[in-house]
Amino acid sequence: MIKNSLHDTLNRPLRDLRISVIDRCNFRCTYCMPDKEGSHSHSFLKNEEWITFEEIVRLAKIFVALGVTKIRLTGGEPLLRPNLVELVGQLRAIAGIEDLALTTNGSLLSAHAARLQEAGLDRITVSVDTLDPRIFSKMNGGKGDLAGVLEGIDRATALGFAAVKVNAVVQRGVNDAGVLDLVRYFKDKGAVLRFIEYMDVGNCNHWDRSSVVSSAELMQLINRHFPLRPLAAKEFGEVAARYEFADGSGEVGFISSVTQPFCGTCTRARISADGKFYTCLFAGNGTDLRALLRRGAADAELTAFVRNVWQARADRYSELRTRIRTTHPPTPKIEMFQIGG
Ligand code: GTP
Ligand code: 5AD
Ligand code: SF4
Ligand code: SF4
Repeated sequence: MIKNSLHDTLNRPLRDLRISVIDRCNFRCTYCMPDKEGSHSHSFLKNEEWITFEEIVRLAKIFVALGVTKIRLTGGEPLLRPNLVELVGQLRAIAGIEDLALTTNGSLLSAHAARLQEAGLDRITVSVDTLDPRIFSKMNGGKGDLAGVLEGIDRATALGFAAVKVNAVVQRGVNDAGVLDLVRYFKDKGAVLRFIEYMDVGNCNHWDRSSVVSSAELMQLINRHFPLRPLAAKEFGEVAARYEFADGSGEVGFISSVTQPFCGTCTRARISADGKFYTCLFAGNGTDLRALLRRGAADAELTAFVRNVWQARADRYSELRTRIRTTHPPTPKIEMFQIGG
């Protein structure tokens, strides 16, 4: 199928759509949704504010017609959205979606993996920052059960999902001592581990540059114990720099949004669970697609709207991070749990 090619002001095509299906989560990761002190807590959407499956499918078709070939479902924790499997099946039926993926914290994966696969999900990414149960619990606000998450990964792997990916966010002095254990464990399991530099997403994680462990540092550490060879990017706009183990036993990736930003090839659009369209993970505002849908906009109007927003897009937060953080008074950004990473 020949696709329309839609480019933004920096000549970046629209290729990926990340859809957050829920802003709630059963974890409280300190770098994303830290448990608030006292009576203050995070506020969440009411169920009726969520975009419906019908609305998601309609939007997905519009985005696919404009060039999207990859869709990733995110949260919060997407497996908390009731009947998510049905949505997967409905998206699978859309011609032109070459890759349908899910990012999850893994806590509910054992229970859902088989049905997700039957519904047509291609790939799963699970977040695991450490194999130390004590640090795991500390990092996710005392909510998660590490053994259950690892069991979910095993279940997905046994079902034959195309290389299950594991995301690990590394923070200095928190979980950096466990990096080699993660590498060893997931290498043996045949999962693709990716280290993500700790980012200043959202407004509540008190991000500090000194907590970031750079990918270069991690790569050198891993290479000393498990020799690595760089791999060429598989596709335009790939987020992770990939390396293979020299002994041929798999690969590891590094996502370096802080030290080596990749805005120049960023092809990602994001929709939040309340149907707002964001053109950057660090954006403050989105444009309201749900409002357009609910006032009866026709496909042509929705298409023109999305096209106009993408064509006007100039976001490159990670490339400008230092300048933005030092010269602007802080402006609120969307939270990670609202936009799903
Ligand atoms: P695939 O290539 O489809 O496997 O997905 P991916 O590499 O985009 O992986 P995933 O969705 O798991 O992204 C991993 C993490 O990288 C996200 O959760 C974010 O933390 C970070 N990330 C992904 N896309 C961006 C982006 O556009 N900007 C920034 N700054 N970080 C991103
Ligand atoms: N910095 C880097 N990665 C983050 N994630 C959540 N918050 C942050 C942050 N501040 C990761 C999660 C998950 C993915 C959705 O994003 O660990 O793997
Ligand atoms: Fe942690 Fe993901 Fe939940 Fe945020 S949405 S608290 S990163 S599991
Ligand atoms: Fe894309 Fe924004 Fe991330 Fe840059 S900071 S890669 S523009 S989402």
